[in-house]
Amino acid sequence: MDKKQDILEKIWSELKDSLIISGHPFHIFSLSTINNNFPDSRNVVLRSINKDKSYITFHTDKRSNKIIQIKDNNNVCCLFYDKTNKIQLKIYGKISIVEDKQIIFDTWSKSKDMSKVCYLNKFSPGTPMKDSKEYILERDNINLNEGIKNFCILKINISIIDWLNLNHKGHERLLIDIINNKKEWIAP
Ligand SMILES: Cc1cc2nc3c(=O)[nH]c(=O)nc-3n(C[C@H](O)[C@H](O)[C@H](O)COP(=O)(O)O)c2cc1C
Repeated sequence: MDKKQDILEKIWSELKDSLIISGHPFHIFSLSTINNNFPDSRNVVLRSINKDKSYITFHTDKRSNKIIQIKDNNNVCCLFYDKTNKIQLKIYGKISIVEDKQIIFDTWSKSKDMSKVCYLNKFSPGTPMKDSKEYILERDNINLNEGIKNFCILKINISIIDWLNLNHKGHERLLIDIINNKKEWIAP
């Protein structure tokens, strides 16, 4: 078997496992965007993958800063690290907002209540407040499903995967060009 192809297969299988295995190191990744000319990064939860179409998704609040940033520049980098296996993934791609109302509704419906409640915060993420808990909606008869108005699925179409494996016998690094289907070893 082709070692480079094996690595790519393993990347996809680990990303898939992270969706169902609690505590999997790829469950959370750091998403970097461009804020004007400055980098901005934050952790997000990986929510779905599509190996055939080479994309991954996560969920966010439509009102968050990252949404403004990606409308200006849709190039992103996603950083994953598996500490046990010493594997770093840098996934580069173009991000877009999923507009399909049925997909949004179906995904929202499958979300847990503890996730849904976050989308009912009174203020946009990053809004200055007088008190640390001022954002919490305190109202009788709160309908969690109202949060769908702020719920958003973001999709990252992958162009490049930079895979790095730290190893005492010699580090290895593979650059995988998803668009042109090319893989080459690069110096770690
Ligand atoms: C472990 C962890 C997981 C998180 N997962 C998400 C997530 O899936 N989606 C999200 O929008 N924010 C998530 N956050 C919060 C973001 O890191 C960030 O604070 C928030 O999205 C606001 O980002 P922005 O102002 O850069 O847009 C998570 C934070 C942590 C620490």
